[in-house]
Amino acid sequence: STYENILTEKKEGGVGFIQLNRPKALNALCDGLYKDLHSALQSFDADPEIGAIVITGSEKAFAAGADIKEMKDKEYPQTYLIDMLSWWENVGKTRKPIIGAVNGYALGGGCELAMMCDILIAGKNAKFGQPEINLGTIPGMGGSQRLTRAIGKSRAMEMILTGEMMDAEEAASRGLVSRVHPTESLVDEALKMARKIAAQSRPITIMAKDVVNQAFETGLQDGLKFERRVFHSTFATNDRREGMAAFAEKRKANWTQN
Ligand code: HXC
Repeated sequence: STYENILTEKKEGGVGFIQLNRPKALNALCDGLYKDLHSALQSFDADPEIGAIVITGSEKAFAAGADIKEMKDKEYPQTYLIDMLSWWENVGKTRKPIIGAVNGYALGGGCELAMMCDILIAGKNAKFGQPEINLGTIPGMGGSQRLTRAIGKSRAMEMILTGEMMDAEEAASRGLVSRVHPTESLVDEALKMARKIAAQSRPITIMAKDVVNQAFETGLQDGLKFERRVFHSTFATNDRREGMAAFAEKRKANWTQN
């Protein structure tokens, strides 16, 4: 790939692989890194061979936060004028499922980027934190909202007010991540999970992702209605017909992506 701040690769089994790669700054999320990541996500989203995406960092750091050196001289009017950091929400607009594989530090914006992924798995050495309070600021890329929804008010409040980190085991026990693996095998495990997802029907996969995300973003009644409507719309696909026919005929489904 031709990016400056990330490495990308098309892996076997329809998986788009993205590794944040700014080792000198522990993958701090500078503007250039955002642009690279956004561009890579868009091209994997547009690539019909890709069915799922993995984002990881290094064994030392997923990402140590927004780039403090880039932010430190900013003034309020400019932050408001450009709606600073709002562009990161584009990560969540990716259509295909994203597995975030976190080793090492996921702090501040790094924790917030991780929480934008659809599935989060962690290496044993992962450390999650929202240490903005130590810098005289607060989370600005969704941390106060997504962390609170993920682990509940009291523990999220504690992390955001004290700035202290949470380890991988606790993150799993509280549901922030779905699994913990040894640090060295984390990326392989993420790729394995991504291959499994990529082998499913693409349109149905995206419908499934959309309805789960709706649970995070709306109240129960609106979410239930949305889910039912999208469920109905699976009946407008050939893959739904094929999937159920294959079950009845005791054979493997042959997805045609339509
Ligand atoms: C810019 C960073 C950085 C960051 C690390 N570096 N984090 N640069 N932005 N967020 C740089 C260091 O300056 C250093 O550069 C190099 O990466 C290695 O870091 P060290 O501190 O030497 O490593 P270590 O001693 O192992 O400590 C690791 C660490 C520490 C505990 C993760 O780096 C740290 O506390 N970083 C800041 C974490 C943080 O506060 N994140 C939240 C950011 S605010 P040099 O050139 O000296 O080698 C945020 C706001 C989000 O994300 C939105 C609201 C505005």
